[in-house]
Amino acid sequence: MGLFKKTKVNIDPDRLPNHVGIIMDGNGRWAQKRGLPRYAGHVAGAKVFKTIAYYARDIGIKNLTVYAFSTENWQRPQEEVSRIMKVLEEFIDDALNTFEKEKVRIRFLGDTSVFTGVLREKMDRIVAVTDHFPGLTLNIAMNYGGQHEIVHGVQKAMALAQKGELQPDELTPDAFGKMLYFDDCDAVDLIIRPSGELRLSNFLLWQSAYAEFWFSDILWPDFKPAHLDQAILEYQKRNRRFGGV
Ligand code: FPP
Repeated sequence: MGLFKKTKVNIDPDRLPNHVGIIMDGNGRWAQKRGLPRYAGHVAGAKVFKTIAYYARDIGIKNLTVYAFSTENWQRPQEEVSRIMKVLEEFIDDALNTFEKEKVRIRFLGDTSVFTGVLREKMDRIVAVTDHFPGLTLNIAMNYGGQHEIVHGVQKAMALAQKGELQPDELTPDAFGKMLYFDDCDAVDLIIRPSGELRLSNFLLWQSAYAEFWFSDILWPDFKPAHLDQAILEYQKRNRRFGGV
């Protein structure tokens, strides 16, 4: 474990959560509190996202999924949606310039078929050039909804069944888990939600069956590596029983 950055608090490097999920909430309120337009909160939130992603890698987290844009977020004003897409594009441009140094495997979780043109090309490119990195896998949930993901899995299973390639009793939870957007998306161990909201909001519904939660009133643009440390420390104090005793 000497390879990884030491945290300020006493985190046990051998009992890190394998998969951390973060709902990056509170950007709009952060901006409004400062008399700024909402998109300024997303710009600030994007900086924090980058800091936290690379910090997660440095301390040895293997899988991080961040909720960047949900299937419901299209209902926001067009201007705000465009700004979030711009923030995403800027993150990818930066990652395309630095991926050899940063060594993070980047993927997009969700129905990405809606993204076209230059943004889509950049998404595909960053996925392709970072695919071989073995350290942190960073899943950026874009146009993601947990219910959509499950329905997508059911559709896949039904198509296989129609072709006679899947029998009902072969559809176990493990088999179904491989029909979701990624066939290798591990169960999420720890879900972090800042901004004071205490809900899951359609995030990783299937993967969160036994997730531990860490909630905080901090708004996402104020989130620091020390908050991730705190969440992990708290996680390591939990007694996870997975339905056993
Ligand atoms: C929720 O806060 C946040 C979002 C819908 C967008 C999240 C985007 C970022 C953190 C920027 C990084 C994103 C990418 C694509 C790399 P909110 O706007 O709902 O905040 P509020 O509840 O205070 O209004």
